[in-house]
Amino acid sequence: MAKKSLLEDLNIEKIPAHIAIIMDGNGRWAKKRALPRVIGHEYGVKSVKNITEAAAEIGVKFLTLYTFSTENWNRPKFEVNAIMTLLVRTIRKEVATLQKNNIRLKTIGDIKALPADAYNQILEAIELTKDNTRMDLILALNYSARWDIVQATQALSEKVKEGIISSSDINEELISRALHTGKFPEPELLIRTSGEYRLSNFMLWEMAYGEFYFTDAYWPEFDKECLYKAIFDYQKRERRFGKTSEQIQENTNV
Ligand code: FPP
Repeated sequence: MAKKSLLEDLNIEKIPAHIAIIMDGNGRWAKKRALPRVIGHEYGVKSVKNITEAAAEIGVKFLTLYTFSTENWNRPKFEVNAIMTLLVRTIRKEVATLQKNNIRLKTIGDIKALPADAYNQILEAIELTKDNTRMDLILALNYSARWDIVQATQALSEKVKEGIISSSDINEELISRALHTGKFPEPELLIRTSGEYRLSNFMLWEMAYGEFYFTDAYWPEFDKECLYKAIFDYQKRERRFGKTSEQIQENTNV
């Protein structure tokens, strides 16, 4: 008898609209196998494909992947180049798959500072997929949450300086909208792989009420069943947004 998939246990009505993932552990996955780190990244791309496909299949509307942080520039030059090459190659190869599956590519982060070939390839794929409606695949590239908060603050200060808004108009909504992430709803669920329990400068503002899920699986090992397990775990939780459990029960009973 075929092994039961956790997909059967999911409540399809309660799939998080936005899932964000810190894809971690490519290097350690490779090291465990005495392989170079970049091979770990290559296998990481397989997980990107599997998880993008699985997310779209179950009705996730936004999938954000922490692909390259502002801090990742500090890695050895060889590794940074390898990740950029992989990025360009993958987007070039997979843009047709995105089209076929009605998935729109988006980014957050300062992509202008990426190498020119990566920047151009990304812009081309964004343009080509811009009318797709099934799911947004959002790559966080040259992104960090503090960078985003700084650029949002600068943008709002400019508006104050130009007299478009006054400083007392600045509220949570304006800040949220000025962030690169402001075009998307906040993630309900953030997953981090590889047994690390940190945010690593990712979505600091957006995760104020979001749920966290940590797994020991390295990113190249994170498959569709792992995603279903994370969502299953999320669905068992009660999201209270500062209210009491009784208030939440009352609201769901009306
Ligand atoms: C984390 O593992 C991985 C990265 C920082 C790079 C992820 C990039 C890819 C999978 C390639 C491009 C993908 C797309 C979206 C097309 P790590 O190197 O931090 O692992 P470690 O913590 O074990 O060293």
